[in-house]
Parts: sequence; structure tokens; C-alpha cells
Amino acid sequence: MRHLMSPLDFSTEELDQLFDLAARIEADPAHFAHACEGKILATCFYEPSTRTRLSFESAMTRLGGRVIGFSDANSSSAAKGESVSDTIRVISCYADICAMRHPKEGAPMVAASRSLIPVINAGDGGHQHPTQTLTDLMTIRSLHGSLGGYTIGLCGDLKFGRTVHSLINALSRYDDIKFVFISPQELRVPDYVMEMLREKKIPYEETIRLEDVIADLDMLYMTRVQKERFFNEEDYVRLKDFYILDKNKLGLAKEDLIVLHPLPRVNEISVEVDEDPRAAYFKQAQYGVYVRMALILTLLEIDV
Ligand code: NCD
Repeated sequence: MRHLMSPLDFSTEELDQLFDLAARIEADPAHFAHACEGKILATCFYEPSTRTRLSFESAMTRLGGRVIGFSDANSSSAAKGESVSDTIRVISCYADICAMRHPKEGAPMVAASRSLIPVINAGDGGHQHPTQTLTDLMTIRSLHGSLGGYTIGLCGDLKFGRTVHSLINALSRYDDIKFVFISPQELRVPDYVMEMLREKKIPYEETIRLEDVIADLDMLYMTRVQKERFFNEEDYVRLKDFYILDKNKLGLAKEDLIVLHPLPRVNEISVEVDEDPRAAYFKQAQYGVYVRMALILTLLEIDV
């Protein structure tokens, strides 16, 4: 039985197979409409989410399966003091596969070690968010044609943004990628991530101003400042509008730049950018459903 805790749990060949399957689903969704009939997905969300939880629910429903779960720790037995280990043992009796989001780093891993069904990490604290990364990779592969050979800028909260950490990890396995980290001093990429890049001799640069580097980028991954992970409100207020991508800044960029964002967006991309053909974030959300459908089929070992 397999779980998904980090994007590195799949080899690059396995990821290619997963994305091929997701592309087949995109091309012919009707073919997969009954693939999970009789199967149940449990969504155990101990932390707020709209997109990730609903995209899992949409994915399972589009495969003909059913969904049970909770979307708030207070409405689960965690409020009574139940451990994640006990919860997953019980959920294993009710469902065939589980997607879990938790504010504590490593909680889905603890669950996986006790689980009788596949567990998918749907985001653990500021640590990892592998299914968002699968979504990001699928989007890059579809729009750029391959997963290597470009300069990618990551902009915003690179310290607390788990999607950023997961994506850098995953991209570090592909050839000819250069990273440009754009953040205020307080929100820099954690040392352990930069250490990994140095060890692998993957080029990266750090800068504070988006305007200084935007012209060099093939891909721009914007992120929200992660309010819920700040220790004090003052710091958040000071940093929250540090970056706002608008038409003017986009005017400095390449004609074929791809702008990504895991969403939800707050202020960091002005709505006027949505109409620009380079804005790919809503398309990215659509890929999130196909990729989660492919992941559920893969972890349940269903051949279609
Ligand atoms: C991200 C997350 O939860 O980390 N959202 C998502 O799942 N698409 C990004 C964010 O909340 O900023």
C-alpha cells in the first residue's frame, strides 16, 4: 500500500505516468466516470481549506466514488482529544482512501504509519503540500511542454509557504532549471531548502524586488503571505502587500511568461492581470482536479 506524503515519494517516471493518466482524464472524462464506483474517500481536514478539499471531493465524485469527512477540527473527535493515529484507524474502517490536512508538520505521516488505507498529505503546517505540487507540475508540463529547461521565479512568502517548499523539492529533480527567489528579508526560503539546492548544485538567486528580475523569468509562481503562520499581527500587516503583480509590472515580462499561483489570492495579483493570456492560475486549479483523479486511481491501484 502506498501513501503520498511528499512529491518525492514518486519517481520522475512514476510522475510522468501520473500526468499521462491525468491528461487522458482531461481528454476523455466520461471514460473514467465510473472508475471508483463503490469506493469512499475520507477528507479529514483539521485546518481550513476550500480548494484542496473541494478539488478532492470533485475528483472522487467525477470518478463515481463517494466522499465522507470533516472540514474543521472542532467538528471532529480531535476536539474531544482523540489522536490522529486513533482517528485514522477508525477512518480505515469507513473509507478506502483518506486525504488529510493538518496544522502540525508531520501529522499525516503519523497517520500513514498507523493507517490501513492510503493516506494523502493534503498540506501539513508550513511543511509540504504534495498534491498542490502535482498540480503545479502538471500545469507546467502542459503549458511549457516539459518539466525542465526554464527560469522560475517564486515570489512572496517563501518562508511559510508549504507549496513553495514542495515545488522547489520536486523541481530539483529536473534538468536545467534556475530558481529566482523573490521575497522580503523576513520571508526568505528556509535554509534547509537552500542547502539542498547548493548540495545538488542547482543555480538560484535571491532578490527583494520583483521588477528587477521579472524580465528574466519564464515562469512566475506568486504566493500569498501566510497570515495564519505569523506570530504577530503587526509583522503580517507590514508584509502582506509587499508584492502586487499588476499590468505595469507584467509589462516588463516576457510575452510567453506563465504566471502561476496556488490560490487563494489575496492582493498579490491584481484582478486586471486575470485577463492577460499569461495568467494561468485558474487553469492550474482545473488541472488540480485531473491530477487528483489520477492520484486516487493510482493509489487505489485501479486500472482503467
Ligand atoms: C495553499 C495551501 O493551502 O498551502 N492553498 C492551496 O491548497 N491551494 C496555498 C495558500 O493557502 O496560500
